[in-house]
Amino acid sequence: MSIEEQVTLYEVGLRDGLQNEPAFVPTDDKLVLARMLADAGLTRIELTSFVSPRWIPQLADHERVAHDAERRPGVQYSALVPNRRGLDGARRAHLDEVAIFLSATETHTQRNINKSISEALAVLSEVSACAIAAGIRVRGYISVVFGCPYEGAVATARVHALVRSLLDMGVFEVSLGDTIGVGNPRQVKNLVRSLLTEVSPDRLALHLHDTRGTALANVVSGLDEGIRTFDTSFGGLGGCPYAPGAAGNLATEDLVYLLDGMGCPCSVDLDRLILASLHVTELIGRSLPSKVLQAELARRQRDLSRRAKANQTTST
Ligand code: HMG
Ligand code: MG
Repeated sequence: MSIEEQVTLYEVGLRDGLQNEPAFVPTDDKLVLARMLADAGLTRIELTSFVSPRWIPQLADHERVAHDAERRPGVQYSALVPNRRGLDGARRAHLDEVAIFLSATETHTQRNINKSISEALAVLSEVSACAIAAGIRVRGYISVVFGCPYEGAVATARVHALVRSLLDMGVFEVSLGDTIGVGNPRQVKNLVRSLLTEVSPDRLALHLHDTRGTALANVVSGLDEGIRTFDTSFGGLGGCPYAPGAAGNLATEDLVYLLDGMGCPCSVDLDRLILASLHVTELIGRSLPSKVLQAELARRQRDLSRRAKANQTTST
């Protein structure tokens, strides 16, 4: 696979990012953000989750966000669905893609969706079949593939079996989640290589968290192995539910900067993306962890100080 091949970013900030924010971002603001992300050239945007508002109150407005988000030609909009009820909501909102999810360990699956892995697989299999019958394509997520906060190390064979189960249900793409950001490039290489013995690379995506600063290194390892779809969150929005204050999802800006510099084509315009991240920064009232965003803000601050100094000199 050549590095010149297009890399696709699957933007999760409105879902994985906002679900971790203490503040509820008003629905109309979410709709503006969705527009800004499409303006920035993102072609796959996860808008929200059709989950219980008791569990995830930040996304309690899922019906309206998914229904009212302006559709753009060439942009695929998606949402998380845990069960039939979630799928019904996604259908009412006219989404043509949904994402189902479970974790590689029993404890994480139980804590996240209140089911064992086998119970979850049964529900997801039904959801997937109904979605596909309705002409909706289905993405699948597997969380904690490189390590679980409750059970520690995760065996490759376990991830393999779940990838196979999801693909057998008709899922078009499986996203491998480093949910707590513990993976390293060697683990990425080993897991992806092992999966590629039976799955083609276009059926896999990497969902990397930057909790310990390894996300970009892990992307490069994934690129080397032929992965071309990566999940990212604008500004690095979100946090890690198991490490308060720590960084969460890999920031979209940081990956776009890396890809631009490496000459890997991707559809995203960094300047426009930064506008969306600045807007959400204002809405949530805290600075975001993206390194590229921080560098841009520092540059703007420097320019302002220089200009202020120059004005002072001319007026004295
Ligand atoms: P449950 O308690 O087992 O199910 O929850 P239930 O059927 O008994 O329903 C409980 C309540 O939820 C009821 O309401 C239902 O009506 C309601 P109540 O009587 O308490 O008022 N309910 C729903 N409401 C709206 N939409 C629905 C729905 N279904 C039931 N679709 C359930 C099971 C899955 C619903 C629950 O556990 C839940 O919502 N969990 C939230 C899971 C979640 O969103 N986690 C975060 C996303 S996953 C993630 O971040 C990882 C990922 O990013 C990858 C990575 O980083 O690795 C994807
Ligand atoms: Mg995540």
